[in-house]
Amino acid sequence: MEDKKLIFSGIQPTGTFTLGNYIGAVRNWKPLQEEYNCIYCVVDMHAITVRQDPVKLRQNTLNSYALLMACGIDVEKSILFIQSHVKTHAELSWILGCNTQFGELSRMTQFKDKSQKHADDVNAGLFTYPVLMAADILAYNADLVPVGVDQKQHLELARNIAQRFNQRYGDFFKLPEPYISEIGAKVMSLQDPTKKMSKSDENPNAVILILDDKDTIIRKFKRAVTDSEAEVCYRDGKDGINNLMTIYSSVTGKNFAEIESEFSGKGYGDFKLAVGEAVADHLEPIRTEFARLSADKAYLKKCYTEGAEKALRYSQRIVSKVYRKVGFVDRT
Ligand code: TYM
Repeated sequence: MEDKKLIFSGIQPTGTFTLGNYIGAVRNWKPLQEEYNCIYCVVDMHAITVRQDPVKLRQNTLNSYALLMACGIDVEKSILFIQSHVKTHAELSWILGCNTQFGELSRMTQFKDKSQKHADDVNAGLFTYPVLMAADILAYNADLVPVGVDQKQHLELARNIAQRFNQRYGDFFKLPEPYISEIGAKVMSLQDPTKKMSKSDENPNAVILILDDKDTIIRKFKRAVTDSEAEVCYRDGKDGINNLMTIYSSVTGKNFAEIESEFSGKGYGDFKLAVGEAVADHLEPIRTEFARLSADKAYLKKCYTEGAEKALRYSQRIVSKVYRKVGFVDRT
């Protein structure tokens, strides 16, 4: 790999990506390939921290892989792989776990939320989830990690773990920086715009999936919760409209002032329709490319097999050094 900064990011294969995943993260992954060495990963091991149907998980993992390619991740430019194919992540995770405090993990808001939501299965994996995430990043000594705002706390923990390791064993890990886009770092639910748009939302109208067809997308935007005024402008307290403006801005490239003037004197109905159409048109090529790619199973397999080989080769060098640093005996 050329001597450029290294980017690492991952996404869980727990269903089709949402517009939140897309605008907040995946969409940025494509242009980053031009400037950086990029390593992207479908994190199936993270997915099993909540109960999964094995048949669906396998299908969702393959679909997520194809979907990332359809979103513009180019396997010639970047390393794209499936987490469970690369054993160094689990190996490093154990070592990092021994350098992470119980108290730190207890403070993670995602753990608190998920353990409330899945109260019947608060398993150890759910608790140590951020350690595996730190291992994903540190196994490649990544410089930058593009994520949405909801992952910021996990990233801060990854930095703390890296720092602690460096203090104990001597400088080794870089401290990875979050890379969070200015617009769309937190796309909100269409039905409750004070909440993050999330795959696990029970109300399907709250979430746009990036493979939704045009009619579905427009219908969901038409039903989006707004407010009782009739003015399209970005202002505190107008959570629903602010969210729609953010979405519209990120798919059209227009800034808020341009959007306000485009819809001045028009009602919310016109605005919602325009947002729906712009999103559907933006996503259309991704849907088409996804259909083409997912029909070619042999090609996908070749891509993820080669991706895993490259990722293993890269991370193995780093993880072997970590083994030596902590005092494990060389195997050969
Ligand atoms: P995950 O699968 O929940 O989400 C993938 C990415 O999408 C972002 N995101 C959002 N951004 C804006 N608005 C939203 N409503 C929204 N919902 C999700 C997330 O911030 C994320 O960037 N733990 C990670 C996966 C992971 C990872 C990693 C990421 C595992 N290892 C290493 C970076 C580096 C997660 O569950 O993302």
